[in-house]
Amino acid sequence: RIPILLDGDPGHDDAMAMTLALASDELEVKGMTVVAGNSTLQNTSTNAIRVLEWLGRTDIQVVKGASQPLSRELSIADSVHGESGLDGPVFPPITHQSLDVNFCDFMADIVRKSDEKVAIVAMGPLTNTAIFLLSNPDLHDKIRCISLMGGAAIGGNWSPTAEFNIWEDAEAARVVFDSGIPIIMCGLDATNKARVTAEEIEQFHQIGTKGGDLIAGLMDFFKDHDLPGTNFKEVPMHDAVAVAALLSDTPVKLEDMYVTVDIDGGYTQGCTVCDILGLTGKAPNAKVAMDLDREKFVGMLADACRKFK
Ligand code: BDR
Ligand code: CA
Repeated sequence: RIPILLDGDPGHDDAMAMTLALASDELEVKGMTVVAGNSTLQNTSTNAIRVLEWLGRTDIQVVKGASQPLSRELSIADSVHGESGLDGPVFPPITHQSLDVNFCDFMADIVRKSDEKVAIVAMGPLTNTAIFLLSNPDLHDKIRCISLMGGAAIGGNWSPTAEFNIWEDAEAARVVFDSGIPIIMCGLDATNKARVTAEEIEQFHQIGTKGGDLIAGLMDFFKDHDLPGTNFKEVPMHDAVAVAALLSDTPVKLEDMYVTVDIDGGYTQGCTVCDILGLTGKAPNAKVAMDLDREKFVGMLADACRKFK
């Protein structure tokens, strides 16, 4: 099994990604760090614990990372994820707390002790991942890849040219893309196709497991809070694509290309500049998700929900 570290800002689609990762026989979740993004750090931490408690996986430790981007003000996405960052289902009060250790030490410890190279699955702004990479250059060789939800070869959802996670902390994203570690970039080109239809949401309700109830409840809220310019009433499970990309029978179609991030702060701040045509002559540093088999992906999500009775 591939050892993975989850890093995210739950987040409706983060919760789906967590569920998919925890259900997989091919992945072994070693721990989770949280970051400010969709909501404040306190909220994303509480939300990660809510999801893990709901799924009965409190063996996974949650550690708080960065409370704001490297060099910008935090801008939360409460228009999309609600005031708590995970609005919709009514969660019982949490009974566990985050582990009170430094998040870089937590990540480094897991990577150092692992016999196999560890994959980082980044589902929010890349602040934690960037700080971890900068402070642990000796561990880069032990990282199998960074599979991240973020960016787009074409377009954006938070600005005309930027996706939210990359826009939120463009400097951190630049560090990650330029790190030399293999990147799997699951951006909007594929994740905007990772949609669950209204009829399928009803089928998630019918699954009748704890996993199904959680995800269907989250989808009910999320379908009414999608971003402008996209297809309301269907829910994009963006972050789950970054997990699905690691699986052997993946629904994600990846293409090699060189990618870097615009940090100049103008109209294109946070744009993932993807050299689709190979015009820079630079060697590819990323596998970019350009397409997705939607029905296969949704089937995988439903199977994952079935596993949490
Ligand atoms: C990304 O932004 C967040 O709102 C989602 O959780 C996802 O990680 C999509 O642009
Ligand atoms: Ca997210």
